[in-house]
Amino acid sequence: MPKITVDGTEYEVPEGKMMLQALDDLGLLLTEIDIPHYCWHPKLSIDGSCRMCQVEVEGTPKLQIACNTPVRDGMVIRTNTEQVRTAQRGVMELLLINHPLDCPICDQAGECKLQDFAVRYGLEHARTRDPRRPAKKGTPLGPTIMLDQERCILCRRCVRFCREIPKTGEIGVFARGDHSLLEVFSGMELDNPYSMNVADICPVGALTTRDFRFKIRVWFLEDRETVCNQCANGCNLYASVAYNKVYRYLPRRNDGVNETWICDYGRMSYRTIRENRLDEPRLGRSTATYSAAIRRAGEGLRQARDSGGRIVGVGSAFAANEDLFVLRQLLDGLSAGPGLLVVPTGKADELLIKEEKAPNAAGARLLGFEESSGPVGPAAVALVLGHALPAEAFEGVETLILIDTHRSPLVERADVVLPARYFAEKVGTFVNHARRIQRFLPVVEPVFECEPEGQVLQRIAVAAGLDGFSGTYDPFEISKRLAEEATAFAGAELGTLDDQGQEIP
Ligand code: SF4
Ligand code: SF4
Ligand code: FES
Repeated sequence: MPKITVDGTEYEVPEGKMMLQALDDLGLLLTEIDIPHYCWHPKLSIDGSCRMCQVEVEGTPKLQIACNTPVRDGMVIRTNTEQVRTAQRGVMELLLINHPLDCPICDQAGECKLQDFAVRYGLEHARTRDPRRPAKKGTPLGPTIMLDQERCILCRRCVRFCREIPKTGEIGVFARGDHSLLEVFSGMELDNPYSMNVADICPVGALTTRDFRFKIRVWFLEDRETVCNQCANGCNLYASVAYNKVYRYLPRRNDGVNETWICDYGRMSYRTIRENRLDEPRLGRSTATYSAAIRRAGEGLRQARDSGGRIVGVGSAFAANEDLFVLRQLLDGLSAGPGLLVVPTGKADELLIKEEKAPNAAGARLLGFEESSGPVGPAAVALVLGHALPAEAFEGVETLILIDTHRSPLVERADVVLPARYFAEKVGTFVNHARRIQRFLPVVEPVFECEPEGQVLQRIAVAAGLDGFSGTYDPFEISKRLAEEATAFAGAELGTLDDQGQEIP
């Protein structure tokens, strides 16, 4: 490992890497070592065009760009000398010559690198008197993204993203010199399953998503850690929250899962937190209290067990491992046999999107749930999480107890309906397609009465008179027991998992 010295401190860095990449790999960039940059991105090819990352390298007469200078043993680098600061001021002055400075009406304001670096590295006054170059404002590039050409600093991150990640290449920089402009190729639209990532990587307000634009000023938002629940990849996310409402999802970096990207479908799924929610307990067609519905579910199970009637349990690939563990214990307590599992499927691609359209099919399988897709057969009681099976699958079932987060035709068929907390409203774990166990934390509070599935099941178990159930649900405690009882979960407790998750055997 080569040793380099940056601003007087020695570091061992990976061999053969460029300076910025090597520092980023060690987690030092923008934490301990501040080298401003626009065009460089850790997951894209090097462009070397913005010249913002210039540093002094001992023994080299001219400043070097850190994004395209390989590290070598003994290198001595200085990032904050007068020469470096003068160069950065010069770059900022050029970038701002034609910039419209419409920050008050720009959606990027508050999270804009041009604003941030202008404050830290720029001049206090503009020295130009010429009018700023006009270009297109607020133009759709496709169904998801708007372009403000005047604000573009031509870093080409978005161009490289489209060429290198979805490999669709819809956009480019056209013309030369100070006539250069970002545009879509003639006859094309920016339209691919990952298109909205360009808004995340655009360092300024040139590219914004049509969905989030003008909804809220970003300084009111708090980014809270979560994961996507729309397919088995389990991409890492931030939910941007204000006033108990999620306004958008953003990708959260996890090199073992989604690098720094997410698909548009997953990104837009923040809407499922509020849309079409199952928000009232029911007994048949009538609204009921939560307690009455629990009592009725418990009685149904007790009668079925006492009369030797068949009880069938159906788990959900959307439920947390902790909820599924309680369901399995309840089914064991009723001698009901292993629970069934239905996994929704759809199209996959080679990048992130997986065939299984649920976040925790792998966890449910590890917990002993058996895959099925057909009718559940005649039964006295079916205890069901989620609505992966259609109403017809329960034709021979006398009492259907449904615990679910969203409305579906199954609600009309069910005899007892209990609304549950969605994953965004509780804590738990999912296991993704590659057997990485990942935690999710509550990002909002529910706006109606509902409980986590594990809590509902505990209360039903008590109402059914089963031994060994306390009626209270602590996901951290359940996770500990899960780690003790199921080998695959050993050493992967909710309380010790970090924000990157952990692979399990
Ligand atoms: S639109 Fe944004 S990401 Fe694309 S080149 Fe311009 S500044 Fe860079
Ligand atoms: S690839 Fe899957 S997990 Fe990732 S954002 Fe898309 S739907 Fe969500
Ligand atoms: S980040 Fe190095 S030149 Fe742009």
